[in-house]
Amino acid sequence: MYKLIVGNWKMNGLGPALAEAQAVAAGLAGSLGGSLAGSGVRIGLCPPSTLVERMVRSLAGASVLVGGQDCRAEASGAFTGDISAEMLSEAGAVLVILGHSERRSGYGETDALVAAKVEAALRAGLEPIICVGETLAEREAGRAVAVVSTQVRGSLPQVLAGRAFSVAYEPVWAIGTGLTPTTAQIEEIHAAVRAEMSAVLGASGTRAPILYGGSVKPGNAAEILSADEVGGALVGGASLKSADFLGIIAGAG
Ligand code: 13P
Repeated sequence: MYKLIVGNWKMNGLGPALAEAQAVAAGLAGSLGGSLAGSGVRIGLCPPSTLVERMVRSLAGASVLVGGQDCRAEASGAFTGDISAEMLSEAGAVLVILGHSERRSGYGETDALVAAKVEAALRAGLEPIICVGETLAEREAGRAVAVVSTQVRGSLPQVLAGRAFSVAYEPVWAIGTGLTPTTAQIEEIHAAVRAEMSAVLGASGTRAPILYGGSVKPGNAAEILSADEVGGALVGGASLKSADFLGIIAGAG
């Protein structure tokens, strides 16, 4: 199964940051790309919306997929400040992150809303990366598996069957904290996510990769990426610097 490693720039990046994306592309075109050749690893970057089209242009011909960080479920309308899946697609995006914990907690996004956004992404031809993950309080209450399983069941609409997508497990307490779960904890949740995906989607639920996200760095990437059912990584802070992101990608080799 191919691995997918995606950088989520969040609300970071003005024009000059495109140089980092170009450095990632250059790294992939060099010896790192050679060592990954045939491995089926796919690389993506999700900059802020303002940079999507410019990043697509500046990476023309490179093997880096560009994506958005969210989209509205509707295709157009009176939704001040929002962006539709169609708009991202027109800008050249091929991926979109949906249901990130920063959107679930900051904007009250529910599983049902995330599922509606997933349908919008598919309608526009985007490949969704659907995020799930428990808070520290939920983990400490022994509810991590239950919480994540419920999120997967509620956030993955039936129309995903047969379509390209991934699920990203991002424990909220591991995001931007430098903390990571143990390999055993990651494997426990990824196994539960896989079981739910299969229950909801049948055979296509057995194939789509399950990414891990939360304080992935060059120093822990190889171990995390080799864990059972870890089909890639969703990287925040360490994706802003090309050297760090390339170091993480090297861990997939
Ligand atoms: P960090 O890698 O900065 O912990 O962020 C993870 C994340 O939220 C990616 O979507």
